[in-house]
Amino acid sequence: MAQPSQDAKLADALVLFGATGDLSRRMVLPSLYFLDADGHLPVDFKIVGSARTALSRDEFVAEVKKILEARSERIDDGVWARFSGRLDYVAGDATTKEGAMELKPHLKGFERPMYFLAISPSLYAKVAAALGEAGLAPEDSRIVLEKPIGRDLETSRQLNEAVGKVFNEERIFRIDHYLGKETVQNLIALRFANTLFEPLWNNLTIDHVQITVAETEGVGDRWPYYDEYGALRDMLQNHMLQLLCFVAMEPPADMDPRSVRNEKVKVLRSLRRYTRSDVQASSIRGQYTKGVVAGQEASSYESERGKPTTTETFVALRVDIDNWRWAGVPFFLRTGKRMPEKRTQIVIQFKPVPHSIFGNSAKDDLVANRLVIDLQPQEDIALTLMNKLPGVSKGGMRLQSMPLSLSLLSTYEGPGARRRIAYERLLIDVLHGDNTLFVRRDEVEEAWRWIDGVADAWAEAGLTPKPYAAGSWGPPGAFALIERSERAWLD
Ligand code: BG6
Repeated sequence: MAQPSQDAKLADALVLFGATGDLSRRMVLPSLYFLDADGHLPVDFKIVGSARTALSRDEFVAEVKKILEARSERIDDGVWARFSGRLDYVAGDATTKEGAMELKPHLKGFERPMYFLAISPSLYAKVAAALGEAGLAPEDSRIVLEKPIGRDLETSRQLNEAVGKVFNEERIFRIDHYLGKETVQNLIALRFANTLFEPLWNNLTIDHVQITVAETEGVGDRWPYYDEYGALRDMLQNHMLQLLCFVAMEPPADMDPRSVRNEKVKVLRSLRRYTRSDVQASSIRGQYTKGVVAGQEASSYESERGKPTTTETFVALRVDIDNWRWAGVPFFLRTGKRMPEKRTQIVIQFKPVPHSIFGNSAKDDLVANRLVIDLQPQEDIALTLMNKLPGVSKGGMRLQSMPLSLSLLSTYEGPGARRRIAYERLLIDVLHGDNTLFVRRDEVEEAWRWIDGVADAWAEAGLTPKPYAAGSWGPPGAFALIERSERAWLD
C-alpha cells in the first residue's frame, strides 16, 4: 500500500457537491479512492460529500463502498480503511448561505479546501456565492467546475463573472476531462519532446488534419440536457477544440500554465469565422434515426426525445486556422453519437512526395505519410511510412505503406495494470494547485465566441440536421464535405 503524501502545500479537504449524482459515482469517488491507493492524498485529507439526499455519514460510506465494488475492482482492505476514514457527509442545499453554513463545522481546521461542483451548471453561481457568504472561500481554497460553462459567450461570461467574484482566476479549475487523458497529454510530449516532428508540423509538409470523436452510445435519458446543447456545444466547443489547440499551438516556452494556455488562446483567436455563404459547404449537422450499432438495434434520437427536434447529434466541420503555420491546411472535425465504433483519433496527413522516381510499376503504390494518433479506445500512435515490398518483381520496385507503431497500452501496462480515469490526473493537479490542464476564462470565452459564430451561421442559413442511420458514419453530406477538397475520412 502506497503511503500518503506529506506535502504541506496541498489542498487539505475536498467538498464534493452532488456527491450522490452520476458524475460523482462514475468518476470522482472512484478516482479519489485510486489516488488514495497510490498514496497521492495527503495524510489528513478529508472528503465531504454534499447533496440534498438525506443520508447519514455511515449510509454515505456504505454507498461509496457499493460504488467501488460495482466497478469490480479489488478493494484493498487497508486502503479502504484509510479512505473510508476520510469520508464525511452533509445533507443540505448548498445554494444558500444557510446551507453552506452547515458545512462549516465539518471543515473546521481545514484551510485549503477544494470544492468540486458535480452539479447542474445552473447552480454554480449560487453555490460559489453561498460559499463566499459563509466565509468558506479562504485564500487557498479552489473551486472545480465541470463543463458546460455556459451555453454561449454571453452566458459563459455571466457564469465566469459570478464565480470570479468569490474565487480569483488562479483558483478556478474548469475541467475538460479530455485534458486528463494520458494520450492527450502525450500529444505535448510527441510534439515538443521530439525534434523529428516540429520542423514538419506546418503547411509546407502537412496536407490536412482530421479529428474524429465517435461514440456508439446514443443520448438516451440525457436528452433534457443534450437537447439544449447538441453535438456542437456538447463536444466541439470543449473537447474537440482542445484537441485542435494541442495539435495546432506554437511551442510554449515551458510547461507553466500561463505559457501553455496563452498558446491555446492564440489558436482559438485564429479560427476563421463562418459566414452564412460558406457554412453550407463547410459544415454538416446530422441526427440519428433508428439503425443497428454493434449488432444491436438502436432507436432514433427523436424517439428518445419523445418528439421531433432540430438538435444535432452529429456534426462535421471544415475549420481553417488563419495564421502563418496553418494557412491552407484544413482541419476536418467530426463527432457523433451512435456511430459504428467508439473512436477518438487525430490524423495528421502529410503531403505526397513531389515527384515519384519509381516509375509505372509503383505508380499506384505511393501513399502519403500519415501520423495517426488513437486516443480511444486504444492508445496508439502510428506513423505510416513507405517501404519496399520484399522480394523481386518484374518491371521495377513495388512499394507498401507500413505503420511504425507505438502501442502505449502494451508498452506501459503489464498484466493486471489499470488504465487511469482522466479525473485522477486532474484531481491531483487541483490538489497541487496546478491549472495547466484546466481551461482558463479567456480560453473558454474564445471557444464560445467561435462556436456562437457557427451556430449563428447555421441559423442564418437555415441549416437543419440531416438524418443518418444509427450505426453509420453520419449523413452523406459528411463525406461530401471532405471530398469537396479531394480528400477522404480515414475510416
Ligand atoms: C462528455 C459529453 O463531455 O463527453 C458526452 O457530455 C460524451 O456527451 C462524453 O459522451 C465523451 O467522453 P469520453 O471520455 O467517453 O470520450
